[in-house]
Amino acid sequence: MSNPSLLILPGDGIGREVMAEVRRIIDWFGANRGLTFDVSEDLVGGAAYDAHGVPLHDDTMAKAQEVDAVLLGAVGGPAYDDLDFSVKPERGLLRLRKEMDLFANLRPAQCFDALADFSSLKTDIVSGLDIMIVRELTSGVYFGEPRGIFMEDNMRVGVNTQRYTEAEIERGARAAFELAMKRDKRLCSMEKANVMESGILWRDVVTEVSKDYPEVALSHMYADNGAMQLVRAPKQFDVIYTDNLFGDILSDCAAMLTGSLGMLPSASLGAPMENGRPKALYEPVHGSAPDIAGQGKANPSACILSFAMALRYSFDQGAEADRLEQAVQDVLADGVRTADLMQADGGTPVSTSEMGDAVLAKLDASL
Ligand code: IPM
Ligand code: MG
Repeated sequence: MSNPSLLILPGDGIGREVMAEVRRIIDWFGANRGLTFDVSEDLVGGAAYDAHGVPLHDDTMAKAQEVDAVLLGAVGGPAYDDLDFSVKPERGLLRLRKEMDLFANLRPAQCFDALADFSSLKTDIVSGLDIMIVRELTSGVYFGEPRGIFMEDNMRVGVNTQRYTEAEIERGARAAFELAMKRDKRLCSMEKANVMESGILWRDVVTEVSKDYPEVALSHMYADNGAMQLVRAPKQFDVIYTDNLFGDILSDCAAMLTGSLGMLPSASLGAPMENGRPKALYEPVHGSAPDIAGQGKANPSACILSFAMALRYSFDQGAEADRLEQAVQDVLADGVRTADLMQADGGTPVSTSEMGDAVLAKLDASL
């Protein structure tokens, strides 16, 4: 059998620095665990725009469709702020999500013990936190038509459309229920059924799907209340299922509960391919952080943990995913910290590559 294939798209800003550490981790698994991947690398976002005038070249899109999994760093930066909307770096990422049909975006928010006092919330509210947000990723207001800026009565009008079919709501819901079955069997669905028809349909469809998962306790919450509950008492949640836009916002909120965006991975999954593996793209939740890009300050943990998710969800290597996640936790427990995780009064931060070194040393020690 040939090796599983990975397409690496480091993108822009700190995406390149953190991905360099992930490549070392991938090599480690090849050398020490017999997990060898065929790795190729390409451009996305501003880097692709600079080379090709588009944020994602058609050849890169075609490659992404062929590989077993895509690992992406981050896209965007101030140099691209004034570009036409159609070629902005973010369009490259959105094209990947849409054309690969990655409808289920898994965003875990886990508070590592060593970082519990890092959160802006009180330690007892976040310690032990482990929630999974499942965000619908290929529909809703991000893609709905009509959209645009139009003239009406001599005035510009900005239009976006929130649109969901029941099939779209259902397939994401199934992904969320399946995850809940492997966790604490609690699912909270969030929408705005009090003001949006798409929210009423959302609630209906999720309730119908729940009949196939009688063991899962389903609850519904308006998304604004959900935002409030996430900062009031986040441990009440196990799995949250929500739409594309609410999921974008709520996942940033949940991320910060854990202390740093620099820790949070994500997986975007689609339908199974011929080989049984889901179409998949893995990326850190953080952005390209232009303010610190190129300085070796970025925390590679989120990107490393995204590779751990790839091991788990694409390659059925749960034990190796555990090994990698444990290595990151052990490094943190030793007090090794990148700049994003420094308290005002505390110590000297390590660089991006020193953080990579520390994780590799823990992996060595795990053998
Ligand atoms: C995210 C990001 C993206 C989104 C941007 C970069 C297009 O915020 O993945 O959460 O809005 O989905
Ligand atoms: Mg976002």
